[in-house]
Amino acid sequence: MPEYFVASVEAENKRLEQASSVVRAYMDGNLFLAPIDMTRRNLKVLDSATNNGFWLSQFQAYLKDPDSATLVGTDLQDRFPNPPRPGIHLQIQDINKPWPESWKSTFDYVHQALVLFQAGPRQRKAVHSLAELVKPGGWIELMEPQYDTTNEDNGPAFQHFLDMVGELWAMRGTTSDFAADLEGTIKDAGFVDVKSVLLPIGIGPKHKIPELADISVESTVGGGKNISIALRVVYGRKPEY
Ligand SMILES: C[S@@+](CC[C@H](N)C(=O)[O-])C[C@H]1O[C@@H](n2cnc3c(N)ncnc32)[C@H](O)[C@@H]1O
Repeated sequence: MPEYFVASVEAENKRLEQASSVVRAYMDGNLFLAPIDMTRRNLKVLDSATNNGFWLSQFQAYLKDPDSATLVGTDLQDRFPNPPRPGIHLQIQDINKPWPESWKSTFDYVHQALVLFQAGPRQRKAVHSLAELVKPGGWIELMEPQYDTTNEDNGPAFQHFLDMVGELWAMRGTTSDFAADLEGTIKDAGFVDVKSVLLPIGIGPKHKIPELADISVESTVGGGKNISIALRVVYGRKPEY
C-alpha cells in the first residue's frame, strides 16, 4: 500500500495553502479553534503532518512573542523549506510510529489536520499517541473531513471525487465517517473540555465567499490528482504526474 503521493512539491504546497484559506473562511477567518492565549510566552506547539510548515508559519505570525515559542512540525515526507523558516523546527515523523519519549506531556498545544485517513484501523492508537504529547492543562485540536456522500446536491464531478476518496480510504481500512468518532476518541484519551464542530464547507459556487469559489475547486482538484496517482499505483499502473 503506497504511503502518500503528490503530483509535485509545488502543486502540493499550493493546493494545501488554498485549502487552508477555503476552510478558514468557515472558521470566521481563524487559524484554529482551541482557546490558546497568543500573548503567552514560551508556548510549545506541535503541528503533526505539517507538510511544509505553512500552518505553523501562520501561527507564528499571530504570536505576541514568537521568539520565546518552540514551534515544531512533523511529517512523513520532507517537503520542508530549505533554508528552514526561522523559529520553526521541522522533522520526519510517522503518525503511526512511536513519538520521541522526551516529547511526552511537554506541548501546550498539539494540532493535526487532514491526515488520519492514513492510519486506517489504527486511528485510535494514532490519536492516543499524539494526545500523550500534550501536557496537563494543554490542548489538542484535530481537523478531519466528514464528507456528505449521500447529499443529492452533489454534482457528478464532486460525486466522482467522493467515490475516489472512498475507494482509497477503504483500501486503507478507513471508514468514510471516521471523523464522527474523534470526539469520543479524544475523551477516551483523558481530555475533559472537549468540543467538536462540523464546518459545512461549500466548494465552487457553494463556497460562502465568492472570491474563493474557484480556489476551492482548484484545491479539491489538486487533492483529486493525488488520489488518482495513488490509485494508479495501487492497481499496478504507471503513475502519471
Ligand atoms: C492532506 S495533507 C495535510 C497537510 C497539513 N496538515 C494541512 O492541513 O495543510 C497530508 C499530510 O500528511 C502527511 N502524511 C501522510 N501520511 C503520514 C503519516 N503516516 N505520518 C505523518 N504524516 C503523514 C503528508 O506527507 C502530507 O503532508
